[in-house]
Amino acid sequence: MEITVAVVPVAGLGTRLLPATKSQPKEMLPVGRKPVVQYVVEELTRVGMKRLLFITGPGKASIENHFDSNSELVQNLRETGKEDLLEELEYERAPVQYFYTRQRRLLGLGHAISCAGPFVGNQPFVAALGDSIIGMHAQSDIVKRMTACFIEKKAAAVIAFEEVPRSDVHKYGIAKPKSDGAVFEIEDLIEKPSESEAPSTLAIAARYVLSPAVFDAINRTKPGKGGEIQITDALRLMIRESGNVYGIRLQPEERRYDIGNFKAYFRAFVEFALADKKQGPGLKQYIKTLVQ
Ligand code: UTP
Repeated sequence: MEITVAVVPVAGLGTRLLPATKSQPKEMLPVGRKPVVQYVVEELTRVGMKRLLFITGPGKASIENHFDSNSELVQNLRETGKEDLLEELEYERAPVQYFYTRQRRLLGLGHAISCAGPFVGNQPFVAALGDSIIGMHAQSDIVKRMTACFIEKKAAAVIAFEEVPRSDVHKYGIAKPKSDGAVFEIEDLIEKPSESEAPSTLAIAARYVLSPAVFDAINRTKPGKGGEIQITDALRLMIRESGNVYGIRLQPEERRYDIGNFKAYFRAFVEFALADKKQGPGLKQYIKTLVQ
């Protein structure tokens, strides 16, 4: 079995980043040189995903434009002697097919993933949040490790996890693992628990491998935290009913950059800009003069 379909939900309103996201998708905000969603797509294509389905919504057309090839722009670069910039558009030629469907009502991430049902059919698939980069250079092969684990364990789902400070558990879905180690079976999942409720500090980190059974679980999941149909609650149902849901820890170099709020977005931008081969060293000097 090969898993080559990935679903990328990008329909959310990004209200925590207003006004930056009033008329542009948060997934198109740049981190360093590229929009966030380009890192996500590069990560997925590098690990062999062949068909990408974006779950979009109103105001998200620029994501579709970004992944189209733009022959006028290419011609303009050629005619104006800027051939060297053509390599910046290399990503347009990734060996992948793009598909788009709309989440017509913003009922939460679980609901967004359920919109992929008719496309995915009866196959396992990857879900990767369009607002989260894994690893500074997006070189992570976490999705590959997750699909391998899914196949080996005949799992119902495999979820990526990252350790977070206990003071941050209220922002994430948190696991109750059955064991220690890089790969573990999950006994329970709790969406955005309080510090005292949290059974661990292992937070869901934006990547999932899901069996098609998830669609039925989502359909039976009632709105939870924030009045939204949460994927965490649907996965919890699967754990209770069939079990066989596993977690994989991200390695330290695979840190997750979730750009959903300004604190995280500013930090990610600065970190990526400082790591930029051309601009990083000069920027470092500049920041030093600013903070002195
Ligand atoms: P978030 O919950 O962080 O996104 O979802 P949001 O709703 O846009 O954020 P705020 O709270 O208003 O600031 C994580 C990912 O899931 C997608 C988002 O686009 C984002 O990439 N998502 C979320 C959907 O596609 N549909 C939804 O109903 C919710």
